[in-house]
Amino acid sequence: MLHAMIMAGGGGTRFWPRSRDHLPKQFLTFSGNRTLLQETVDRISAQVPPERTWVITGAKHVDLTREQLPNVPPDQIVGEPFRRDTAACIGLGAALIAQNDPAATMIVMPADHHIEPEREFQRAIHAAEQFAIDYPGALLTFGIPPTEPATGYGYIQRGTVLGERQSVSIAQAKAFKEKPDLEVARQFVEAGDFYWNSGIFVWKTAAILSELRRLKPAMYAAIERITEAWNGATRDEVFRREYDSIEKKSIDYAVMQDAEQVLVMHAPFHWDDVGSWLALERRNPQDAQGNTLQGSHVGIDTQNCVVVSDGDGVVTTIGVNNLIIIKSGSSVLVADRKDEGRVKEIVEQLQKLG
Ligand code: GDD
Ligand code: MG
Repeated sequence: MLHAMIMAGGGGTRFWPRSRDHLPKQFLTFSGNRTLLQETVDRISAQVPPERTWVITGAKHVDLTREQLPNVPPDQIVGEPFRRDTAACIGLGAALIAQNDPAATMIVMPADHHIEPEREFQRAIHAAEQFAIDYPGALLTFGIPPTEPATGYGYIQRGTVLGERQSVSIAQAKAFKEKPDLEVARQFVEAGDFYWNSGIFVWKTAAILSELRRLKPAMYAAIERITEAWNGATRDEVFRREYDSIEKKSIDYAVMQDAEQVLVMHAPFHWDDVGSWLALERRNPQDAQGNTLQGSHVGIDTQNCVVVSDGDGVVTTIGVNNLIIIKSGSSVLVADRKDEGRVKEIVEQLQKLG
């Protein structure tokens, strides 16, 4: 059976000042009225019912997650006592799913992507599920054709094509390189046979657990001790002690770069990592001057700006262009568009100031 595991434990830095530590972006709405987390569950719900959906998030976000996802069984919304990045999160999710359904296939989904059209996503998942049966030891990811040498993604080199299902082709991955530097990323994009890693994975729980045991034995052992004693409580002493001891590493560095058999499927859907304020432009219409506006704004001679005004009050602008202006609560961000990726530096500075 196919189970879905959603990773919703990331912190909130790139959407400051709207996303604070208590409200990372997966719990926020970027268009329409569903949050990114709700959209993620909606997207897979045609293929995976709530009874086979699992969400792993931070302990302090468990209540909010249960509120946003009332149909998912509460004990399948798990709160990590500490943030240990995605290798631990995926290992724990896989082990819990395997406890319920030892022959399970799982799809791992980040909670903060925008994907369309849904129909194409479903076709891809259907094909991936079939490949997971044909290649039960493989770790499968969806590859996105790169459009720029972004350094925040993993890169996958396409190898021998293995075949097609539902008109979606799949290839052996020759190499997986997580977050290369700019020079290397440029070479990859120019080479033409690299994909970005979408961060969406499909595999048998047995396959990921066996690679985790081989590559990160201490992490695997800790997860085994946690699941043996499992009672679902974040405050459980075994859970806290063992999780505290786990190495903080992403699945990409911990497993994908060194895994024996990685398969990459050419994603037939449009994918957007909602990674900065400029993502609002891609998800919402612009006015005649190219501005993307949310909340109250009065502008004169204002072009190509993203302006957000949460709550009361109004944001006004005169004679400016190419700015990101965000007012949320009692904080304001004003940034040049080209510095969209540097918002986390502000958060770091603020943390230093206490
Ligand atoms: N439960 C839990 N616990 N979830 C976490 C944790 C954690 O400790 N850390 C991160 N997550 C969640 C985030 O909320 C997000 O949904 C997902 O896991 C991925 O984490 P990111 O921190 O956003 O990873 P990334 O963007 O740097 O890199 C990954 O995604 C890229 C595509 O967006 C990698 O898989 C890259 O290879 C990939 O290209
Ligand atoms: Mg990300």
